[in-house]
Amino acid sequence: MIVAIGTDHGGFALKERVLRAVAEAGHEPFDCGAMTLQPGDDYPDYAERVANAVNSGRAARGVLICGSGVGISIAANKFAGIRAAICHDTYAARQGVEDDAMNVLCLGGRVIGPELAVELVREFLGAEFKAFDRYERRLRKVQRFEQGPSAG
Ligand code: RB5
Repeated sequence: MIVAIGTDHGGFALKERVLRAVAEAGHEPFDCGAMTLQPGDDYPDYAERVANAVNSGRAARGVLICGSGVGISIAANKFAGIRAAICHDTYAARQGVEDDAMNVLCLGGRVIGPELAVELVREFLGAEFKAFDRYERRLRKVQRFEQGPSAG
């Protein structure tokens, strides 16, 4: 699958290793920048690029990295169709896909090191959504929130 990867300055140090991990796992990395370390850049710009890549079908999944993983996951989740989460343990990186159809993995470049990042990417990309009725039902409920607020 094609995997879109984006990072601001806070995650930039992890980017090359993550690109390589995607390729090593047999997938095609799609580099959404930053192409060079830019200390003043803004994580929403990379969240937007990766969200657009996934929502347009240009990429099947995404990996976003900022300093903590927090800002870039908040930004990515503003896009309908994106289900992004910070996962700094392999259980969540796999289970988030299997149960919750997570399609964007978010990492904190100032929180974890490259070897854990590689394992998280491997788990994320190796997992598939399990189409059990209860998972489909929960996903539909989440997707309903994308239509706007409900009465209650
Ligand atoms: C940028 O300095 C930093 O705030 C950003 O990468 C991220 O950690 C935000 O959540």
